Amino acid sequence: MNAYESLRREANGRPFACIVGWPVAHSRSPALHGFWLKQHKIDGHYGRLPVEPNRAALEDLVAFLRRTPNARGCNLTLPHKIEIMPLLDRIHPVAAHIGAVNTVIKHRDGALEGRNSDGFGFLEALKAGAPDWRADAGPVVVLGAGGAARAVVATLAEAGVPELRLVNRTQATAIDLGVAFTPKDGRRIAIERWAERDATLKDATLLVNTTSLGMKGQPPLEIDLTQLPRMAAVNDVVYVPLETGLLAAARARGHRCIDGLGMLLHQGRLGFEAWFGRQVAVSAEQYKAVAGDLV
Ligand SMILES: NC(=O)c1ccc[n+]([C@@H]2O[C@H](COP(=O)([O-])OP(=O)(O)OC[C@H]3O[C@@H](n4cnc5c(N)ncnc54)[C@H](OP(=O)(O)O)[C@@H]3O)[C@@H](O)[C@H]2O)c1
Repeated sequence: MNAYESLRREANGRPFACIVGWPVAHSRSPALHGFWLKQHKIDGHYGRLPVEPNRAALEDLVAFLRRTPNARGCNLTLPHKIEIMPLLDRIHPVAAHIGAVNTVIKHRDGALEGRNSDGFGFLEALKAGAPDWRADAGPVVVLGAGGAARAVVATLAEAGVPELRLVNRTQATAIDLGVAFTPKDGRRIAIERWAERDATLKDATLLVNTTSLGMKGQPPLEIDLTQLPRMAAVNDVVYVPLETGLLAAARARGHRCIDGLGMLLHQGRLGFEAWFGRQVAVSAEQYKAVAGDLV
């Protein structure tokens, strides 16, 4: 039985969505959506779908979503977030601005819309973890210029951050991001050197790590926080482990810390509400249930 057939059988006629990726076995999305389905007693399903990274495989996915009446859409993770875009019927302006899609919604007329909820998830988690942080209060440092950084930088620029300092190992990628997301009203995105990342922390109100450094199986993020003002919040989008080396060091200095799981949970709201027609909220119980073995 292929993956599509097993997913269809699991759903057993109920409305369903799924996480699509390659690989996909590690994804926390079934746990986070499964929590809401159970909490709200919704007779639906959220599964996993491994889809190989090539155009033909993505075309099969889109055809499956179109022809399966109870398929409501999907989430997308690496490496499909960009390649899916030309295959969809429309792209929401936020996803078009970020340049990636992480949620597909099948509308009543059958049209498939690509959206991006990573920026929304990031901002909601930040507001929850550092309620008094103000976007317009001062400079923000973002480490990294990959996929997660695109959503974070676009969102922070939109939120009104007066100066964004973007620091990436490959400076050319950071420059591309700076060009794409510099606001038109004169606020700046400064591209800083990776070797000088410690010095960029001076006067910052927020430090965000969007690199994969510190993630399980990756090298640690080496950064000296001495110059970061104590009032600044520290946000790591990495969520395996939950308490990264960066967060442990920041906590020891007394900074407010925001881990990556909150972003993951909040980004899920947008898809869930569209697929299953119910407003949902992130709760401590859900956080605990999904955190599970993310130590
Ligand atoms: N919490 C959430 O909801 C959420 C959502 C999305 C992603 N994430 C997490 O965010 C992390 C990044 O994901 P992504 O999709 O943005 O990955 P990505 O597109 O592959 O970007 C990776 C970033 O890490 C940098 N990097 C990698 N190895 C490095 C090294 N040895 N030294 C310095 N920089 C290094 C890369 O720099 P170069 O440009 O120089 O290669 C790039 O900026 C992952 O841990 C992912 O799980 C979390």
